Amino acid sequence: MASSPSPSAARALLVLAAAALVLSSVSAAAGSPPLAKGLSFDFYSAKCPQAEAIVFSFLKDAIRKDVGLAAALLRIHFHDCFVQGCDGSVLLDKTNGVDSEKVPVLLSFLAKIGLDADDLVALSGAHTLGIAHCGSFEERLFPKEDTTMNKWFAGHLKLTCPQLKVDNFTANDIRTPDVFDNKYYLDLLNRQGLFTSDQDLHTDAGTKPVVTRFAVDQGAFFDQFVRSMVKMGQINVLTGNQGQIRTDCSLPNAARSAGDELPWSVVEAVESFVL
Ligand code: HEM
Repeated sequence: MASSPSPSAARALLVLAAAALVLSSVSAAAGSPPLAKGLSFDFYSAKCPQAEAIVFSFLKDAIRKDVGLAAALLRIHFHDCFVQGCDGSVLLDKTNGVDSEKVPVLLSFLAKIGLDADDLVALSGAHTLGIAHCGSFEERLFPKEDTTMNKWFAGHLKLTCPQLKVDNFTANDIRTPDVFDNKYYLDLLNRQGLFTSDQDLHTDAGTKPVVTRFAVDQGAFFDQFVRSMVKMGQINVLTGNQGQIRTDCSLPNAARSAGDELPWSVVEAVESFVL
């Protein structure tokens, strides 16, 4: 039997597995999303035709044992892609961050990396899965309830987070917490989005029609989600001989110069839109 991989190797495997799972669902979408030169959807078809089936079955089994893994993998893939492209840089040591606010700002920020309103609304739909800790939304409850939040929903959240700084968590999607579906958008229509960045998608005139479209048409959401994930997966993509295959997942192969630090601020900037 093969020996167990090191923790960092296992994490890297999971990140790659998540990416492969998303790409393997591409054929189900209407038409193939655009790909950068040098990339293909069937890279392993000749060298390792079973690759996707192996990854898929590994993930299916792991997620059956722990459904929370699906959300964790999805989120880590997002974080990885927003740090110099989806290259496992999420496994490297981090530096500092920045502050920003609100959806129009978020949109102009995303535009710089080639993502638009459809992408933002679709990718935020990943919050159909997983959990959030009280600290991620408590400022919408205390000292005053956020008026853009449904009153009943605020009361419901307070059962889990009765005051500031409680170490507890709740589901991102109150309707179907463990199912990847379009109910998250129904949450937004009912002012039951957990984060400000979620609810803003329905408040903002530019993104509201997209939220409504996905709320009434799950197929449209799924199709756009696949496209946006493939798009996100190509942020600053490296092809051919570019980049490096790290011998230790948590360290670059060669020492980096001081001015060559990873832009961790990018993912922290995006997540700073939360409150
Ligand atoms: C648009 C900006 C985004 C913001 C402000 C944001 C913010 C957050 C926050 C604050 C949490 C809860 C963390 C906690 O309290 O434990 C969370 C969870 C999560 N996010 Fe996002 N997120 C964003 C975009 C995304 C994207 C693009 C994806 C994936 C495509 C994603 C996937 C997830 C998932 C799956 C979880 C649940 C994780 C788990 O249960 O382990 N998010 N997000």
